[in-house]
Amino acid sequence: MTAAESILVGQSKPMRRLRQTIATVAPARVPVLIEGSTGTGKELAASLLHELSGRRGAFVAFNVCAVGDTMFEDALFGHTRGAFTGAAGDTPGFLREAHGGTVFLDEISGLPLPLQAKLLRAVETGVFRPIGSSRDAMSDFRLVAATNEQVESLVAAGRFRADLAHRLSGIVITLPTLAERLDDVPMLVEHFARGVTVTPGACRALQERAWPGNVRELKQVVDAALVFAHGVLDADAVATALTHRPRTGVANVTAPSMLADDYLASERRRLLQLLDGAAWDTDRAAAGLGIHRSTLYRRLKRLGIALPPVRRAREQCVVRDVRPDSHAFALIRAN
Ligand SMILES: Nc1ncnc2c1ncn2[C@@H]1O[C@H](COP(=O)(O)OP(=O)(O)OP(=O)(O)O)[C@@H](O)[C@H]1O
Ligand SMILES: [Mg+2]
Repeated sequence: MTAAESILVGQSKPMRRLRQTIATVAPARVPVLIEGSTGTGKELAASLLHELSGRRGAFVAFNVCAVGDTMFEDALFGHTRGAFTGAAGDTPGFLREAHGGTVFLDEISGLPLPLQAKLLRAVETGVFRPIGSSRDAMSDFRLVAATNEQVESLVAAGRFRADLAHRLSGIVITLPTLAERLDDVPMLVEHFARGVTVTPGACRALQERAWPGNVRELKQVVDAALVFAHGVLDADAVATALTHRPRTGVANVTAPSMLADDYLASERRRLLQLLDGAAWDTDRAAAGLGIHRSTLYRRLKRLGIALPPVRRAREQCVVRDVRPDSHAFALIRAN
C-alpha cells in the first residue's frame, strides 16, 4: 500500500483517479481548489497535496468561517508590534509561517468580499501588508482552498469575486460523495475498525445507507459500533449504533436556510445553552452533538453566534511542521 492509499482510503475508480490527480498536481505551485460535500475528505486531500508536494515548509490550515473579519486579516497577514491595543510583538501571520509550504484555507466561501480583494493580491503576487506595517511582506506559499458550495454559484450570487474564484481555481479537484463509491465502504470500515474483525453482515448493513454526511458520518457510526462490538464488529453492533444516531440528520444540518424562522430561533437557543454548558469549548460542544467542529462553526455562523475571539483564533489554527522524517500517519492522527 502506498502512503497515499493509506491516507485517502478506497480502491473505487473515483478514488484511484483522485489519488492520481493529487500526485500529479502536488509538485506544481498552482493554487488548488478542492470542492466536495461535507465529510468527503477535503482536509485530508489538502494535507496529502502538501505531503506529496516536496515543499519543505509548514502545512498551515485554517478555517475562514471561524474567525471574524479583523481576525482573518491578522491571522493571515500578521501584524507589527503596537499595530493595535494588545499587539505586544510582531506576529508573522500564516502566509509567512507557510513560507516554502502550503496554506490551506477551509470554507473559503465564508470570506467577506473586502478581504477577498486583499487575498487576491497576496495570491497573485505573494506580497501583502501586515497590519500596522509601512512595508509589504513576501512569502512563497502554495494555496489550497476548500469549499462545499460550488464557487460558480457563489460568483453568480455576488458572494464571491469572479477574479479571486478564477485565481484560486488553478486546478479544481472535486471529491466524490460516499454514495458514489459505496464499494469503498468495506475498506473504509476496516480502516476505521483499527484491527477489530468486521463481519460481512456488518459491511452489508453499512453499504446499504445513503451517507449524507459521507466518510465522516461513516466513521462516526463505526466508532459507535465499536463501542457495542464485543470483540467482533457484526451487524448487531452496527444496528445498535444506528439506533443511537443523533435525531437531526446531516441533511438538516447543512440546509438550515430551508427551515422556518422559529425553528432557527430555538436552534440558536439550544446551541447557546450547549456552548455555555461546555464552557465555550467547541470541541466538547461538537462532540456532544456528534458533529465535526467545522460543521459546528458553520452552524454557529448561520445562526449568528460569535465565539470569543481568543478562543476562535487558537482553536482554528493548525500549524503542522513538516520535517523530512514526518510521516503521513501523523496527519491522520492529527485529524
Ligand atoms: N478517503 C478517506 N479515507 C480515510 N478517511 C477519510 C477519507 N475521507 C474522509 N476521511 C475521514 O473522514 C473525516 C472527514 O474528513 P475531512 O475532514 O477531510 O472532510 P471535509 O470534506 O473537510 O468535511 P467538511 O466539509 O465537513 O469540513 C475525517 O475523519 C477523515 O479522516
Ligand atoms: Mg473540512
